[in-house]
Amino acid sequence: MRKLMKWIGRSMVAVVLLLAVGLVAVYLLSEQRMARVYAIEPTVPPVPVDPGAVERGLHVATIRGCRDCHGSDMGSGTLIDDAMFARISGPNLTPGASGGVLSDVDLVRAIRHGVGRNGRSLLLMPSQEFVGLSEQDMGDLLAYLHSLPAVERTPPENRVGPIGRILLVADQVPLLPAEHVDHAAKPEQPVVGATAEYGAYLAAACQGCHGKTFAGGHIAGTPPSWPDAANLTPDPTGLAEWSEADLKKALREGISRDGRPLQTEYMPVSATKHLTDDEVSALYAYLRSVPAIASGVQQ
Ligand code: HEC
Ligand code: HEC
Repeated sequence: MRKLMKWIGRSMVAVVLLLAVGLVAVYLLSEQRMARVYAIEPTVPPVPVDPGAVERGLHVATIRGCRDCHGSDMGSGTLIDDAMFARISGPNLTPGASGGVLSDVDLVRAIRHGVGRNGRSLLLMPSQEFVGLSEQDMGDLLAYLHSLPAVERTPPENRVGPIGRILLVADQVPLLPAEHVDHAAKPEQPVVGATAEYGAYLAAACQGCHGKTFAGGHIAGTPPSWPDAANLTPDPTGLAEWSEADLKKALREGISRDGRPLQTEYMPVSATKHLTDDEVSALYAYLRSVPAIASGVQQ
């Protein structure tokens, strides 16, 4: 009996030690990736000064989801508040806070490259969707950011917890955008219009959730309680039967083709309801043209 107890005791010590070593390894590996410095000196596009620039920039910020994460007044918003996973807020971008100290170079580096002023990757800021923003859209965005009234709101400091670090090391969550951005990419030069080509440009904003192939499925890094993103490809398990009017209703009103209300806490209808008629037509034309793929297949 005493022998058995001794053996159990030793095994438990071994397990605890192994766990401790594992956690230290995860901590060191994640720390190394988070501390990587990217030397990026982006060029700043001309900031338009015509009377419509701020309004256009507001539209870009709305449909690209900036205001979903940074708050509708851009004065910060909570994204994840979980001690084990992470605590992450979209920072205050108004002159009241960090926005006041960020130069245009800092802004472009953050938006296109996902890299902060200290050269490290930002957390969770989806710059892989913004690196291709046209010079026009980026210039209008800067005009909008410059125009913001100060908001006095300070979100808590961002930090990644043990589960977040484990998922990062296992490459299960796109926590460090600078690792996912093609830093050599040139801004796109889309011709604005109700075309599939322009739809492809706009649809970058959907891929973070609906996936690279648009076939939907579990959204990387979200808790299991999140619903799967829908399949947007012209597959029978996707939007094969959908008319343009169906898509418009889903994006504008948050109502699916069968009349079901979409779960707008997850599908950002707050952003998509502002898409113009031409933008919806462009997205529809593009989503008709992508390969039909069964739901959830992201190769
Ligand atoms: C999915 C949520 C999300 C979206 C969408 C998003 N951001 Fe962010 N953004 C963040 C988070 C989180 C951070 C802070 C990361 C950190 O502190 O490491 C951030 C950081 C930034 C920074 C750097 C701030 C600083 O102090 O260095 C800028 C600038 C910025 N975002 C602008 C934008 C703009 C403009 C858009 C839209 C084109 C946008 N963001 C869309 C989540 C988001
Ligand atoms: C933050 C994540 C996220 C983003 C960004 C996002 N979606 Fe969604 N979308 C979802 C989720 C989750 C669902 C499923 C909601 C449900 O089932 O209630 C969904 C559902 C949909 C549906 C309904 C499909 C159906 O079968 O009912 C359409 C259409 C859609 N999204 C289009 C888009 C388009 C177009 C964009 C880009 C402009 C986009 N979504 C951006 C998460 C997102």
